[in-house]
Amino acid sequence: MDQSARYSDLSLKEEDLIKGNKHILVAYKMKPKAGTGYLEAAAHFAAESSTGTNVEVSTTDDFTKGVDALVYMIDEANEDMRIAYPIELFDRNVTDGRFMLVSFLTLAIGNNQGMGDIEHAKMIDFYVPDRCIQMFDGPTVDISNLWRILGRPMKDGGYISGTIIKPKLGLRPEPFAQAAYQFWLGGDFIKNDEPQGNQVFCPLKKVLPLVYDSMKRAQDETGQAKIFSLNITADDHYEMCARADYGLEVFGPDADKLAFLVDGYVGGPGMVTTARRQYHCAGHGAVTSPSSKRGYTAFVLAKLTRLQGASGMHVGTMGYGKMEGEGDDKIIAYMIERDECQGPVYYQKWFGMKPTTPIISGGMNALRLPGFFENLGHGNVINTAGGGSYGHIDSPAAGAISLRQAYECWKAGADPIQWAKEHKEFARAFESFPKDADKLFPGWREKLGVHK
Ligand code: 3PG
Repeated sequence: MDQSARYSDLSLKEEDLIKGNKHILVAYKMKPKAGTGYLEAAAHFAAESSTGTNVEVSTTDDFTKGVDALVYMIDEANEDMRIAYPIELFDRNVTDGRFMLVSFLTLAIGNNQGMGDIEHAKMIDFYVPDRCIQMFDGPTVDISNLWRILGRPMKDGGYISGTIIKPKLGLRPEPFAQAAYQFWLGGDFIKNDEPQGNQVFCPLKKVLPLVYDSMKRAQDETGQAKIFSLNITADDHYEMCARADYGLEVFGPDADKLAFLVDGYVGGPGMVTTARRQYHCAGHGAVTSPSSKRGYTAFVLAKLTRLQGASGMHVGTMGYGKMEGEGDDKIIAYMIERDECQGPVYYQKWFGMKPTTPIISGGMNALRLPGFFENLGHGNVINTAGGGSYGHIDSPAAGAISLRQAYECWKAGADPIQWAKEHKEFARAFESFPKDADKLFPGWREKLGVHK
């Protein structure tokens, strides 16, 4: 059944919809199945995503039609489809009237993913009006709070050198805490790898006091504050809160140096929101592959994450590390850290909502960082380099120091080879990661006098 007469209005202008402040706008890449017209498929998609189904139902009244989602733009050649969703469509909390992200996902990227007449559809951007921004939590703390803890300026406090304890799994409590201590001698921030939690060989109640002890010893030795991000992801939010409460108890007077990591991709929005509301702090890890033609992009996930109030989010490495990505992904970082930003489709204003800190992670090391900063244009990020720290041939502390030196090299606008001649840990990163060194700095062995 062609529903385009009801669920599309191509005369609607995007600028008017934005001015009206009454719709969430969503841009998709959509391809119908062969034999279905583009507008017909788009209209059916809007129907399934709002008030309709594949047939007319007798219970529909005039009010119902007033909250239909409407296709307002299509470009078949580029598989572009844009839909305006009236705000009233979305479920609101009974406790406080605030907006529910799950409801947005259910409608805008839920049922429509399995439709028989749609080959594929992927959300590539969405626009949130001022009224909705007001109804989301947003973060309560941001990178400036970390800079304050670390004794740095609250504005442009710079690079936070971090790691993820490696190996990913298989360390018992003592070696785990020792690995943390060794990194903290040179670096600032440690986070659990996502699978690390309460394995039988490394129980949380045994390892966490040891990690806190490592933190205290490293703080005493270096005179610097350190930060730990504890993975609290769980199936059951009571379990998640139990882990977080236990962490706060263990870190006691240093509880401000404890962050919580929630894997929002596997745990879902409820986990992130609960962590945000209970503890005012959440991390976020997820994978949204560019090769997929369904679901939503990493860019969309980043916007969702800021709305939910995560203080930091893994945004990959923009093609400089080991994960998929490219330089243009810097738009993801800009969208979560700026007060207004042009996305792939929509220009989004955040109306003062606190930023979410980009966490750069996945296959990074000191050699890859200068190029990364050059592409991003700044270094106000948390970077967690697991292999880049624990793979340094001298020590995890040397790995951590090499990361900071890489940041300073870029900041000084220096030539990395020259910088290496004056910075030992950075120089030893060349020998630690020779494959990267060969690729990024051909001829480095001769220039640095390394002949092994
Ligand atoms: C991540 O979670 O991003 C990775 O575990 C980081 O580890 P790596 O720096 O060794 O890739």
